[in-house]
Amino acid sequence: MRVTSNECILDEMDITEKIEQLRMEIRKHDHLYYAAARPELTDREYDELYKKLESLEAAHPELVTPNSPTQRVGGEPIAGFTTVNHAIPMLSLGNTYTREELESFDGRIRKALGDGVTFEYVCELKIDGVAMSLIYEGGALARAVTRGDGTKGDDVTKNIRTVRAIPLVVDATDESFEVRGEVFMLDADFTKLNEAMIEAGEEPYANARNTTAGTLKQKDSREVAKRELRFTSYWLEAPFLKSANHADNVAWLEDAGFPIGTDVRVCVDIEAVMAYISEWDTKRAGLPFQTDGVVVKVNSLRDQDELGFVARSPRWAIAYKFEALKASTTLNAITLQVGRTGVVTPVAELEPVLLAGSTISRATLHNEDFVSELGLRIGDGVEIEKGGDVIPKVVRVIESSRSAASAPWTFPTTCPCPNESTLHRPEGEANWYCTHGSCPWQLKRRIQHFVSRNGMDIDGLGEKAVDQFVDEGFLSSIADIYDLSQKREQILLLDRWAPKSVDRLLSGIERSKEQPYSRVLFSLGIRFVGEGVAKTITRVIPTLEKLSSATTEELEAINEVGRRIAESIVEFFQDESESAIVRRLVEAGLQFEMEETHVVAQVFAGKTIVVTGELETMGRREAKEAIESRGGKAAGSVSKKTSFLVAGASAGSKLLKAQELGTPVLSEAEFRALLR
Ligand code: IVH
Repeated sequence: MRVTSNECILDEMDITEKIEQLRMEIRKHDHLYYAAARPELTDREYDELYKKLESLEAAHPELVTPNSPTQRVGGEPIAGFTTVNHAIPMLSLGNTYTREELESFDGRIRKALGDGVTFEYVCELKIDGVAMSLIYEGGALARAVTRGDGTKGDDVTKNIRTVRAIPLVVDATDESFEVRGEVFMLDADFTKLNEAMIEAGEEPYANARNTTAGTLKQKDSREVAKRELRFTSYWLEAPFLKSANHADNVAWLEDAGFPIGTDVRVCVDIEAVMAYISEWDTKRAGLPFQTDGVVVKVNSLRDQDELGFVARSPRWAIAYKFEALKASTTLNAITLQVGRTGVVTPVAELEPVLLAGSTISRATLHNEDFVSELGLRIGDGVEIEKGGDVIPKVVRVIESSRSAASAPWTFPTTCPCPNESTLHRPEGEANWYCTHGSCPWQLKRRIQHFVSRNGMDIDGLGEKAVDQFVDEGFLSSIADIYDLSQKREQILLLDRWAPKSVDRLLSGIERSKEQPYSRVLFSLGIRFVGEGVAKTITRVIPTLEKLSSATTEELEAINEVGRRIAESIVEFFQDESESAIVRRLVEAGLQFEMEETHVVAQVFAGKTIVVTGELETMGRREAKEAIESRGGKAAGSVSKKTSFLVAGASAGSKLLKAQELGTPVLSEAEFRALLR
């Protein structure tokens, strides 16, 4: 007789069975939680099951299978993503915003299918996330690919495997099939993530969609697993099924264990579609995720085939976009925020109000003109709106709410910072500025910009820490960051600093010295010099020494650099205190020279180049980049201004046009020779 309570003496067969049973159970509960939204276990009970499986597998590593629930997150970070072609292109949808436009969509379909032909629609909610193609082979997830340019995308299988809503194995079939759907984040998960970012003193993310896209591009799948991404499926290609319509495909997906839309509904005519839209326009505020509209699809797959495509969108489907969500509240005050270049932005302090699932109490008012165009007065009732992004806007004053005692708002002339320096608005500009060189608010923003993720990316120096160091007098310029290592003991005396966090900070500072010159230039915070401009400039003027003595004319000769940017750069280097800061940064060992390998000769400066047909050795985007990085302009159509045309295989009308105009035409090989 076997003693089953003691796993040591279970024979191999029993353990295999036990493990398999645990896996099936976990898969069932994943499905109940993520696809059916009917969880039966508490988190703790689920974790217990999972731990049991983990420990059995740890004791019997030979029994671990690649698609065990414990193997969702695995292995080392990858170096990069491989590009994969889509067997069927991933298209986008045409948008409509009004009922009339929907009626004409219906009219077009009627006409195309022929009078008197009956057909149905299927309505689904449009989730604002990231499109994903999942390929199943032999009953298991084989590949997950992003939409990319529609023809080819990135293989993100490792990352997608961490999404527990997506089954790694299916029982329904061993045949190959492809599922498409949307990867997204729940609002609550997004908010939680942002709260954690703020807590850690880091910049919060702007919206859930971009965060999802960014997460899927992570090279370490362990980071992806932390984000709790969700999935919903909305398309199936499974030739073996021989289904007649989309609704049957969705039903199959549901049975096979895939999460499907919240309310996938067959509608007999466009009236029923309108009813669906009205219903969800109201109900969407209660959904736990962002939806930006309704997707309307012709149900019959044969009709879909017959209708076909126009350009990049199917004729058989369309998206109806909801109007932005609105709410009314009161403007309690207008405060000022000082940015890193001294720009002073008015901010609406609102009576907190619930809008699309989150409480709004502040909204940017951009500048003085924005406020006066709206005619805002303190105490006014205002309407606020949230569009596709999560950022709320004040869109209008509710006139009837205005109190007789209110007065027009005027822009303050002193900075809210402790220096109370004078603000000024230069002629012809929309912004007011605090120009006081030592405005602590401006300084904080400037340092925050310098250390930010796209800047010097200094780990351990978040927003709160910057505020604290400025207030304590440890930082009065970005250059002081590189002296912080001498203040270790003093930092340790401050609130919230422990030896570990100080070490993390100091090694983050050390590491930042390896950031390339283009990042350093961007981080300096010169007005109008964004990431793209910084990269372009460093390619053309590869050292700080040369840049600091460049004239506006020299700078303006660079593609993408206009008068405004050129003047701003010259002004920056003429400023004695800025130059002193830069000198200290040079002494600290920051990179102020472009690495040799990145210096590209500006062979296409002043040239406008058109690429047409198919190139064998490079994609369209690559060709565009190659032209722009060499100072040229990549244009879409041939005109008298075109310097030359690069013609690949099966070039058509553009080639004819070039020949007509006598524009020089280069082969791909000749173009490549120029690139070299
Ligand atoms: S069908 C051929 N259905 O919207 C059309 N798309 O603008 C295939 N989306 O790339 C798309 N919810 O990422 C479809 N229920 C839904 C959708 C949906 C969201 C996204 C999808 C697509 C984009 C098109």
